Amino acid sequence: MRLRRFTYLNTSLLLLWAGFVYAQAESQTQDEVNSCISCHLEVGDELADPVEGMKEDVHTRQGLSCADCHGGDPKAGLDGDMEASMDPGKGYIGIPKRTDIPQFCGRCHSNPNYMRRFNPRVATDQLDRYRTSVHGQRLAKGDTKVATCIDCHGVHGVRGAKDSRSSVYPLNIPETCGKCHADAEHMEGYNIPTDQSEKYKTSVHGIALLEKGDQAAPACNDCHGNHGASPPGAPSVAFICGQCHLNNSELFLKSPHRVAFDEMGLPECETCHGNHGIQHPSDQMLSTGDSGVCIECHEEDSKGYITAVAMHQQIISLENSIQLADSVVSKAERAGMQVSESKFQLHDADDALIKSRTMVHSLSVTKIQEVSKTGLDLAEGALQAGYAALDEVQFRRKGLSISLIFILFLAFGVYLKIREVDQKHPPK
Ligand code: HEC
Ligand code: HEC
Ligand code: HEC
Ligand code: HEC
Ligand code: HEC
Ligand code: HEC
Ligand code: HEC
Ligand code: HEC
Ligand code: HEC
Repeated sequence: MRLRRFTYLNTSLLLLWAGFVYAQAESQTQDEVNSCISCHLEVGDELADPVEGMKEDVHTRQGLSCADCHGGDPKAGLDGDMEASMDPGKGYIGIPKRTDIPQFCGRCHSNPNYMRRFNPRVATDQLDRYRTSVHGQRLAKGDTKVATCIDCHGVHGVRGAKDSRSSVYPLNIPETCGKCHADAEHMEGYNIPTDQSEKYKTSVHGIALLEKGDQAAPACNDCHGNHGASPPGAPSVAFICGQCHLNNSELFLKSPHRVAFDEMGLPECETCHGNHGIQHPSDQMLSTGDSGVCIECHEEDSKGYITAVAMHQQIISLENSIQLADSVVSKAERAGMQVSESKFQLHDADDALIKSRTMVHSLSVTKIQEVSKTGLDLAEGALQAGYAALDEVQFRRKGLSISLIFILFLAFGVYLKIREVDQKHPPK
C-alpha cells in the first residue's frame, strides 16, 4: 500500500518535471522562431533593451510580442535578413510618431471584439476618453508635450494597473503625473501652476494615501479621471468630492449656497476647502478671525455672518463640554472608579461633535443645534456621573480615615487594657 503510494508520487513528480522541460523547450523554440527577439538580442545595446523590458510586460503574459505592436514578420529574417522581417509589406510600422501613439495602442484597446478574447470584462473606452481630455485634445493639435499612453503606462514593461510596481498604481500616480506637472521647465508657456504634486503631498488626501497607504483617499486620477475625462457620474472635476463625501455633498446641495454658487460659477467644495492642498478643517474656519472663511463673503450683521457666529459658538460649546466631562471622568478613572458607562456616553458625544461639523454644510443653525443638543446632553450626563464618582471617592476616603482612626483608638484601648492586666498580675 505504502509502496504503491510512493510510486504514484514519483510518477506525478516525473510527469511534472517532463511538463516543465517541455514548456522550457517550447518557449525556447518560440524565441528562436521569433526573429525580432533573437536578432535584437544578438545586436545588443539599446536594441536589446525592449526584449529585456518585455519579459515583465502584461502583453507578454497574454502571449503578445513585438510584431503584435510593431508589425512585421517574426518568422522571417532568422537568417539575419533584417529587411525580410521588418518589412512594411508585411505590416511593419516601426516606431509610431508621438502623435500616433494613442491610435497605436488604441488599435487593440478600443476594439471590444479583439480585447474580449483575452478578458471578457475589459474596458475599451481608454482611447475615446483620452481624446476628450485636455491631453488628447492638445495632442490632436500637434502639442507633443502632453501625456500620451506611454507617458503614464510606460512601454516595454507595461504592468497591470493593480500591480504595485505599475506607474499607474495609486501610490505611484502622483509621481507619474508630477514628472511633467511638477517640472516648471516642461510646463513653461502653459500658464498653469506646477505645485499640484507638492501641495497634494501635504494635503489630508496625500498624507492618507502616500503615508498611511489608505487607498480610499484620492490620487490625482480619482479626481481627474484615469484618461483625463472627469470620472463617470461627475459632470466636472469641480463636482468630484461628493462621490466620496456623500453627506457633506447632500447637505450642500440642499443649502442656499447651491444656487448662489451656481450663479457665481463657483465650485461646490473647492471654494472653501481648495483642491490640491486640502487640510483638516478646523473650527477656526467658522470664526470671525483670520482663518474664517464665511466672513470672506458675508459682511458683519448679514444673515451669513450671524449664522457663522452662531454655529461656531454651538460647536465650541459642545467641544468644551466634552473636554470638561472627559477630564473629570478620567480623574475618577485614575482614582480607580468604574466609569465605562460614562466613557461610552463621551464616545457618542464625540460622534455628535463630528456630525455637527458635517452639519455646517446645511447652513442651518437649527439643524446644528439639534445634533449638538444630543452631544451636550450626553456630555452633561457623563460629567454628572464623573462628579458623582469623584464624590464617591471622597466619601470612601473619608470613610477610610474614620475607620482608621477608630481602629487606632481600638488598638490603643486594647494596648491599655493589656498593660492594666499585666500590672495587676505581674509575671512571677
Ligand atoms: C536580423 C536582425 C533583425 C530582425 C530579424 C529584426 N530587427 Fe528590428 N532592428 C534591427 C536593427 C539592426 C535595428 C536598428 C537599425 C534600423 O533601425 O534600421 C532595428 C530596429 C528596430 C526598430 C526601431 C526602428 C527605428 O525606426 O528606429 C523596431 C521598432 C524594430 N527593430 C522592431 C522589430 C520587429 C517588430 C521585428 C520582428 C518583426 C524586428 N525588429 C526584427 C535588427 C533586426
Ligand atoms: C505594447 C506594444 C509594444 C510591444 C509589445 C513592443 N513595443 Fe517596441 N515600442 C512600442 C512603442 C509605443 C515604442 C515607441 C516608444 C517611444 O516613442 O518612446 C516602441 C519603441 C521601440 C524601439 C525604439 C527604441 C526604444 O526603445 O524606444 C525598439 C527598438 C522597439 N520598440 C523594439 C521592440 C521589440 C524588439 C519588441 C519585442 C521584444 C517590442 N518593441 C515590443 C510599443 C511596443
Ligand atoms: C494621464 C495618464 C494616462 C494616460 C495618458 C493614459 N492612461 Fe491608461 N490609465 C491611467 C490610469 C491612472 C489608469 C488606472 C489605474 C487604476 O485603475 O487605478 C489607467 C488604466 C488603463 C488601463 C486599464 C483598464 C482601465 O481602463 O482601467 C488600460 C488598458 C489603459 N489605461 C490603456 C491606456 C491607453 C490605450 C492609453 C492611450 C490611449 C492610455 N491608457 C492613456 C493613466 C493614463
Ligand atoms: C496587439 C494589441 C495590443 C496593443 C497594440 C496594445 N495592447 Fe495593451 N493590452 C492588450 C491586451 C490583450 C491586454 C490584456 C488585457 C487584460 O488582460 O485585461 C493588454 C493589457 C494592457 C494593460 C493592462 C490593463 C490592466 O489590466 O490593468 C495596459 C496598461 C496596456 N495594455 C497598455 C497599453 C499601451 C500603453 C499600449 C501602447 C503602447 C498598448 N497597451 C498596446 C493588447 C494590446
Ligand atoms: C508627459 C507630460 C505629462 C504627464 C505625464 C501628465 N501631464 Fe497633464 N498635462 C501636460 C501638459 C503639457 C498639459 C497642458 C497644459 C495646459 O492645458 O495648459 C497637461 C494638462 C493637464 C490638465 C489640464 C490642465 C488645464 O486646466 O489646462 C490636467 C487636469 C492634467 N494635465 C492632469 C494630469 C494628471 C492627473 C496626470 C497623471 C495621471 C497627468 N496630467 C500627466 C503634461 C503631462
Ligand atoms: C481631491 C481632488 C483632486 C486631486 C486629488 C487632484 N486634483 Fe488636480 N484639480 C482638482 C480641482 C478641483 C481642480 C480645479 C479644476 C477645475 O475647477 O475645473 C484641479 C486642477 C488641476 C490642474 C489645472 C491647473 C491648476 O492647478 O488649477 C492640474 C494640472 C491638476 N489639477 C493636476 C493634478 C495632479 C498632477 C494631481 C496629483 C498630484 C492632482 N491634480 C490631484 C482636484 C484634484
Ligand atoms: C476617492 C475619494 C475621495 C475624493 C474624490 C475626495 N475625498 Fe476628501 N477624503 C477622502 C478620504 C478617504 C479622507 C480621509 C483621509 C484621512 O484619513 O485623513 C478624506 C478627507 C477629507 C477632508 C478632511 C476631513 C477631516 O475630518 O479632517 C476634507 C476636508 C476633504 N477630504 C475634502 C475633500 C474635497 C473638498 C474633495 C474634492 C475637491 C475631496 N475631499 C475629494 C476621500 C475622498
Ligand atoms: C461655505 C464653505 C464650505 C463649503 C462650500 C464646503 N465646506 Fe466643508 N467645511 C466647512 C467648514 C467651515 C468646516 C469645518 C467645521 C468645523 O470644523 O467646525 C468644514 C468641514 C468639512 C469636513 C470635515 C467635517 C466632516 O464632515 O467630516 C469635510 C469632510 C468637508 N467639510 C467636506 C466638504 C465637501 C465634500 C464639500 C462640498 C460638497 C464642502 N465641504 C463644502 C466649510 C465649507
Ligand atoms: C464664496 C462666497 C461665500 C462664502 C465663502 C460663504 N458664503 Fe454664504 N452665501 C454666499 C452667497 C452669494 C449667498 C446668497 C446670497 C446671500 O444671501 O447673501 C450665501 C448665502 C448664505 C446663507 C443664507 C442667507 C439667507 O439670506 O438666507 C447663509 C446662512 C450662509 N450663506 C452662511 C454661510 C456660512 C456659515 C459660511 C461659512 C461656513 C458661508 N456662508 C460662506 C456666499 C458665500
